[in-house]
Amino acid sequence: MNPQPQNVLDYPGENTIFLVWNFKKDQEVGAVFQRICALVINLNNSGEIRFPFSGASCVMGIGYDAWRRLGLPAPLPKELANFAPIVGGKHTAVATRGDLHFHIKGAAKGICFDMAAALAQLLDPVAVSVEEVHGFRYWDGRSILGFVDGTENPEGEKRAFFGLIGDDDSAYRGGSYLFVQKYIHDLKAFKALSVEDQEKVFGRYKENDVEMPDGVKPANSHSALANVGDDLKVIRDNMPFGNMSTNEMGTYFIAYASTFSTVKKMLDAMFIGSPEGNYDRLLDFSTPKTGSLFFAPSVSFLKSVADGEPAMEVVSSAAPIAAGGGNGSLSIGSLKKESGYE
Ligand code: HEM
Repeated sequence: MNPQPQNVLDYPGENTIFLVWNFKKDQEVGAVFQRICALVINLNNSGEIRFPFSGASCVMGIGYDAWRRLGLPAPLPKELANFAPIVGGKHTAVATRGDLHFHIKGAAKGICFDMAAALAQLLDPVAVSVEEVHGFRYWDGRSILGFVDGTENPEGEKRAFFGLIGDDDSAYRGGSYLFVQKYIHDLKAFKALSVEDQEKVFGRYKENDVEMPDGVKPANSHSALANVGDDLKVIRDNMPFGNMSTNEMGTYFIAYASTFSTVKKMLDAMFIGSPEGNYDRLLDFSTPKTGSLFFAPSVSFLKSVADGEPAMEVVSSAAPIAAGGGNGSLSIGSLKKESGYE
């Protein structure tokens, strides 16, 4: 039986809170992490029972440094590493630290808020919140730039194929690579373009969301460069956000993928260009302020951590990173030998 994935294949929904928390130095973090795993399972079960069909859920991702500090299993998921910046001739995809990422969604804002509050209460003594973005569905699923975002996402069974790890890394089946970037847009400059020129930025028509035909679509448009092949897709769950008082208008880019290398190919094409120098015109109006890679393990993985399964034969990856009260390792490098683990 395949391990149950976290809620990574679902659609973006109405309201979202994205959170990034980083562990404090010199703290024992293992016990709190164990409780966080139990809480994430609890929040999802509770959301489903209390508000059925409202899509309330919370997905947790774990960064490379945190994985090592917590002593989670080794070998690690094959492509889990710290994201390295991608430096193009004009634009750079920055890399920022992220230990834990939470992707909370729900039809009602209230449940999203309560989930975030419950997580914060547990994490606060040992970690700091470094990012919190409240995203919302904008009209008919448009980005804050006014174009529908998500149309070419995989559908049906293809979502699991492109979104979840399979037999290529069988110890982590049911997990996903989770890549996020918080973009701030120069909305004023973008809106100063004529609609025709805005459409050339995306390679799609604005009102009806139809793709431009080949020959008309510019080579430096977003859809020309982000499309790296029909067999290389990811699940995008982007959400717009906006704040009038700070004039911060943005897109929280979030992708779940069976391989990080697919996301990397897209980023290379956008930032370095394809061919080199032919970079994504969208970047002239969009600046990434963050960039982090996480791994979103299956629910069974979270359960094993929550249950504090006794060590078995899998080698722990714990690195003596944390000083003070121990290395923060959970000593659970030997997660339960159940489906999905070896
Ligand atoms: C500045 C932030 C971004 C915005 C506002 C944005 C918005 C959009 C929009 C409006 C579309 C067209 C409709 C659709 O198919 O979804 C699109 C397509 C797409 N985007 Fe983005 N995007 C952003 C960043 C990214 C990044 C960083 C990646 C990859 C790492 C990416 C990957 C894709 C892909 C794969 C497509 C589909 C291309 C196709 O097959 O036609 N996007 N995006």
